[in-house]
Formats: sequence, C-alpha cells, structure tokens
Amino acid sequence: MALAIFRTKKIEHVESGLKKCLSAFDLALLGIGCAIGTGIFVLTGIAAATLSGPAVILSFVFAGIASGFAALSYAELAASVGGSGSAYGYSYVAFGEVIAWIMGWILLLEYGVGAAAVANGWSGYFMGALANFNIHLPEMYTKAPSMGGIINLPAFAIIWVLTLLLISGVKESARANNIMVAIKLSTIAIFIFIAAGNVHAEYWHPFIPYGWFETLPNGQTKGIFAGASLVFFAYFGFDAVSTAADEAKNPQRDMPIGLIASLLFCTLIYITVSALLTGILPYDQLNVASPVAFALSKIGYAWSSTLVATGVIAGLITVLLVLLYGLTRILFAMSRDGLISPVFSKLNEKRQTPARIILACGLVISLIAGFFPLGELAETVNIGTLASFVMVCVGVIVLRIRQPELKRPFTNPWHPVIPVLGILSCGALMAFLPHETWRRFLIWVAIGIVVYFAYSIRHSKLAKD
Ligand code: ALA
Repeated sequence: MALAIFRTKKIEHVESGLKKCLSAFDLALLGIGCAIGTGIFVLTGIAAATLSGPAVILSFVFAGIASGFAALSYAELAASVGGSGSAYGYSYVAFGEVIAWIMGWILLLEYGVGAAAVANGWSGYFMGALANFNIHLPEMYTKAPSMGGIINLPAFAIIWVLTLLLISGVKESARANNIMVAIKLSTIAIFIFIAAGNVHAEYWHPFIPYGWFETLPNGQTKGIFAGASLVFFAYFGFDAVSTAADEAKNPQRDMPIGLIASLLFCTLIYITVSALLTGILPYDQLNVASPVAFALSKIGYAWSSTLVATGVIAGLITVLLVLLYGLTRILFAMSRDGLISPVFSKLNEKRQTPARIILACGLVISLIAGFFPLGELAETVNIGTLASFVMVCVGVIVLRIRQPELKRPFTNPWHPVIPVLGILSCGALMAFLPHETWRRFLIWVAIGIVVYFAYSIRHSKLAKD
C-alpha cells in the first residue's frame, strides 16, 4: 500500500495533437488575460479599506515576490516535465499518486471557488453599471446571507450564462484572449491616465494605519501581510501559462519567458493601480463593490467611470471562462488517470464538449457564487493556490534529487535558493490567512483523502497498468 500511493508517472512527451502555434508573447498574454481581474479591480479596495490602508501597495509587492519565486519554479518544471502541465501533472511525476491526487483536489477548489469569486467581482461592477441607468436590484438580492442579503443573484446568474455558453461548444482561442487583454489594458490605461492627474498625496498618510500583522481574538487577521494574503488572489491565474505547454511553438524557451513576463507585467500594473486608487480617494472609502469605477465617479469623471466599468465587466468574463475551462480540464485529466469516475472524461458526441461535467460544475459554482461573500471566497482560493505553489517549489527540489540527469532547458540559478524562498514566502502568506480559512481548507483536504482511499487508489490507471 505504501508503495501504491507513491507510484509516480514517467515523464513522457506525448504528442497531444494540438497545434503548436503559441509564441512567448501569446503565452505572456494568456497569463495576463487570466490574472488581471477581480483581484485588482475589487479586492484592492477591500484590502485598502480593511486590512492594509494605502500600504496595500506593499501588500501587492509581497504577494508578487512570493509569486515570483513560484513562477521561476514553475518555469523550470514547465520546461523539463512539460506536457502534462499544471501542479497536478508535476506532482504525479515528482511525488507520486497520493500527493498528485491531493494537488488535483486542491486545484478543483481553486478553480471552482475562484470562478465563484470572480463572479462576485463581476456582479459588483454589473450592478454599478445598472445603477448608472437608474436600475437598482433590491439589496437583498445582491448580497450573500452573511453580508445581510439573501443571494447574490447577478453572480449566480452569470455562472449559468457562461455554463450554457460552454456547453454549446464555445472554444477558447488565443485570438479572443488577446482581444480581451487589449480591452482590459485599455480600461486600466484610462484609469491610470485620469487618476494620475488627480492624486492627493495627503491620502497616503497614514500609510500604514493597520500595522504589519495582527491576529484578532476572533481569528481574523489584519495588517499589510494579511492584505498580501488577500490580494494574492490577483496573481492567481498567471500559472495558466503552464497548462498551454502542448500548444507552445518552442516550449523550452517560451514557457519561462511567458510565465515570468506575465508576472512582472501584472505586478507593475497592480502597484500602479493600487497606488493611484488610494491616492485619489481616502482608503477608508474604498470598501465598495466596484472601487475603481466608484473612485472615478466620486472625483467627477462619470463617463470614464461607466467606460471603465464596461471594460471590467467584459474583462472579467474572460477570466471566468478561463477558470471554468481550467476546472473541466483538471477534472478531465484526473478522470483519464482513473482517479475520479470515467464519467468526467466523456465528451458529448455532437458538440465535443464534456457537457455533463460542465453542467455539474456550473450548478455547484453558481450556488457558491450566490451564497458566499467575495472576501471569504478569495481567501479560500488563495490558501489552495499557495499550497500548490509550495508543492511546485518542493517538486523542483525533489526532481533535482530524484532525476538529476533530466534535461532541463531552463534551470534556476543558485539552486536550491529560489524554490526554498518560494516555500518560505508562500508558506508565510498561508500563515497570514484567517483561522476560518484554514479550517475550511483542512476539511476539504480531509474529504479528498477519504475519497482517494475509498475510490481512486483502486481505480487508478497506474494501478491497472
Ligand atoms: N487573478 C484573477 C482575478 O483577480 C483570478 O480575477
């Protein structure tokens, strides 16, 4: 049994049959397309108002540094292990089945709850836009029960709309992604252009109103580092680059470039936007559902505010689609490996989409989106993402020991400095999350372990081989 749960997959460069058409530039845009979303457009406001103050800028810097170490580790694995992509695939090669299973299980949480969180962010901007036309939904239908409402109806509904779209066979394409990235970046450019001329430096004082870090008696956390653990959500998604290895023209060279370039670019944007946002409006006014649009309209730019809100509404839809695709793709991979039921890798014959899985995912995610508030969802995603980043860093170290002769087109310098720093910094961000988030995470992992021993261990394809 001990041997069974640690059986590993061999590194095999299977030809997936996918067209190799993505350049390093496309890959970087893919990362940027998935990353820029609710994190920067909504969580910046919540974090500034409640956790970090104007020092939310530093929160973004710390979260960016931790992601940077993980990105370098991802780059090494993406270039050498390649194909299988994602932390799940790497874990199967580096650690063996049981850890790969836990990783896959955590990724399901990440992508599923991540989509629910982005739907919440979308809902905030959507309602803001409706309000411009004097259309107001009753408040109880715009908030989760723990925030005093009944259901967040727009968040619930958008998941259904996209679920139906995906079932009808909408395909992701690099071109569509590039167009959406262009829209998002133009939206951000408009904001930067207007905000830069309206900064009141006095709003940056006090810069650190809530201190560096503190755990409150109720288990909640506060301060710059707690803010970093929340806004880390903004970085979740850039690792999607690693799942496109099969479609990259020259994966060995382009994956590291794509991963690192997208991360650097996002970090720069996040620092600029958060600095300007806290510079045009006092931080304590930013705890609203659509802070970027709200701030612009507060300083008298109503039209630009509407334009920005429209851009965000469109931009968040791509993030949502990518997360929903990602979720079905992970389920597909786990099912093909025999770790979950084969039902999940069945395609609908007519449309070539896994219709039933998409429907099941849509149902679960729409309920999560409707009944839980954004902050809690984002923290839950973050703990999962950080755990997967830690595993990727550990994977780099383990593979260097277990397979020293593996061809590594991209290697991190000063080994093992980078992965060790990755483990420490991502581990620290996990430690800064509230107790409740930890409780939820551990329950999820415990359920996963039960499922593994009850089902996956016997149905695994490796076991049968
Ligand atoms: N990082 C993505 C966002 O902030 C998921 O929306």
